[in-house]
Amino acid sequence: MTRILIVYHSQTGHTQKMARAVAAGAKAIENTEVILKRAAEATLDDLLACHGLAIGTPENFGYMSGMIKDFFDRTYNEAQDKVFRKPYVIFISAGNDGSGALRAIERIVLGYKLKSVFSPVIAQGEITEEILEQCRELGGTLAGGCALGIY
Ligand SMILES: Cc1cc2nc3c(=O)[nH]c(=O)nc-3n(C[C@H](O)[C@H](O)[C@H](O)COP(=O)(O)O)c2cc1C
Repeated sequence: MTRILIVYHSQTGHTQKMARAVAAGAKAIENTEVILKRAAEATLDDLLACHGLAIGTPENFGYMSGMIKDFFDRTYNEAQDKVFRKPYVIFISAGNDGSGALRAIERIVLGYKLKSVFSPVIAQGEITEEILEQCRELGGTLAGGCALGIY
C-alpha cells in the first residue's frame, strides 16, 4: 500500500478544491491510501508514516499560510532526520503569482531534505478545470512514482 499525505490549508475554498483534485489523482493509482488533512489536524506521525507528501497553501502576504508554517514548526525537530529524500509536491492558490509562498516552502523543505518530484501547480485567481486537471496529474504522479519506487 502506498500512503500519500496531503496537507493543506484553505480559507475560502480554493486550495481545498485543489487538494481534493490532488487526492483524486492519487487515489486513481492502484493500492494507494490517501490521507487528506487540514494542516491544523496533520501530525508528525502522519508525516513519518507517508510515502509521499503533497503540501497545499494559499499565498498569504507573500508567504505560505500561517497554518502550513505551523505544521512545519510542529514537525521539524522530530522529522528532520527521518524523512530524508521523501518525495513531495506543492500546490498553491494565489491572487497573483504565488512565488513568495513557493520560495518559502522550498526553503523550509530543504531543511527536511525532502525531494521534489514534480513541478508545483500554482493557481492564480479562480480554480479552473485546467488547474484541477493539473492537480490530478500532480497527485497521480506523486502516488504512481511512490508505488513504483522510482523516487
Ligand atoms: C490575508 C490574505 C493575504 C493574502 N495575500 C496574498 C498575497 O500576498 N499574494 C497573493 O497572490 N494573494 C494573496 N491573497 C489571496 C489568496 O492567496 C487567494 O485568494 C487564494 O486563492 C485563497 O485561497 P483559499 O481559498 O484556499 O483560502 C491573500 C488573501 C488573504 C485572505
